[in-house]
Amino acid sequence: MIVPFNDFKKEYASSKKQINESMQGVAASGWYILGKEVSEFEEKFAKFLRSGYGIGVANGLEALQIALLALDMKPGEEVITTPLSAVATALAIRAAGGKPVFVDIDEFLHLDANKIEGVITKRTRAIIPVHLFGNPCDMQKIMRLAKKRKLAVIEDCAQAHGALFNGKMVGTFGMAGAFSFYPTKNLGALGDGGAIVTSDQKLAGKYKMLRNYGQRNRYEHAVLGINSRLDELQAAILSVKLKTLEKNNNRRRIIAEIYKKNLVNIPNLKVIGERKGGQSVWHLFVIETEERDGLQKFLKNKKIDTLIHYPIPLHKQECFKEYNGLSLPVVEQKVKNIISLPINPYLTDVQIKYVCRCIKEFYNLKTI
Ligand SMILES: Cc1ncc(COP(=O)(O)O)c(C=O)c1O
Repeated sequence: MIVPFNDFKKEYASSKKQINESMQGVAASGWYILGKEVSEFEEKFAKFLRSGYGIGVANGLEALQIALLALDMKPGEEVITTPLSAVATALAIRAAGGKPVFVDIDEFLHLDANKIEGVITKRTRAIIPVHLFGNPCDMQKIMRLAKKRKLAVIEDCAQAHGALFNGKMVGTFGMAGAFSFYPTKNLGALGDGGAIVTSDQKLAGKYKMLRNYGQRNRYEHAVLGINSRLDELQAAILSVKLKTLEKNNNRRRIIAEIYKKNLVNIPNLKVIGERKGGQSVWHLFVIETEERDGLQKFLKNKKIDTLIHYPIPLHKQECFKEYNGLSLPVVEQKVKNIISLPINPYLTDVQIKYVCRCIKEFYNLKTI
């Protein structure tokens, strides 16, 4: 049996007719940039999140970058974030003129809210919590601290479309929520895409300017912007796919339950679950085990795809050489033990149970 990590062909086939119609509609409309498809999707996406405004942008990195650019940071100003994320989180801070400050992670592999205060300086402007794996960060602690220290919070929701913390959608706690629609995401385009959500009307206007050359009115440029527009084609496709996001998130939840039930009693294997108050959308299903490399090889031989999110913490990346000497012991240890199992909503129960059987077989073999 083959268990793929993602299955884009099945995903497309599941709504082929509607997607094709939406693409044809755009092609025939003669309007391809910042038209009705983008506005409609922005409105629907903001409504889905129970937020005020949605601003479509070109990708998740630039969603973060634009949200940060709106802070008008001065050189040397700092943004606190996690060392365990896609590199885009830290690249966005740099692109907006900020300096990333990495804080070690907690048992849920999120930036440890208890360690944030220790790195706040006079130069700190913002915190970027990343709702990694679809699992909400401790937004209660983070928002309380941000308020106390007058810091902006920009949530990286690239992996968490529809996740909740204490019943509230992630992306709506801070000043802005930044989303990616990269094809692997819970809501994925057929190409690149991203969005920012905010409930602040003035900020929404600023983000709209920043994504479009800083333009206020045609040929009138108020701020130094970039070109980061969601295009009509991707917006039309995303409107179709948004309709099945909840259903797909629920399927991911069911798969996560099957995994949890079957893997709970394996000694030396830990499932990364949800924190109190958090409702994950299970973008990834991550386990921790000291036997990680052996397990990954064993599963590969059984035709089960797995990945590691992420093998190198951001402060150890070559592109962030200046941080390479920094010691963040928790993340440095955890990256050796984590492995992501397949959890895309197009997998069957039979496939998931096969993964669980193979994992059990691996551990039984080890104890013989
Ligand atoms: C946590 C996180 N932040 C940001 C990004 C960047 O998104 P994009 O690839 O759309 O630029 C990603 C996706 O790779 C991500 O997973």
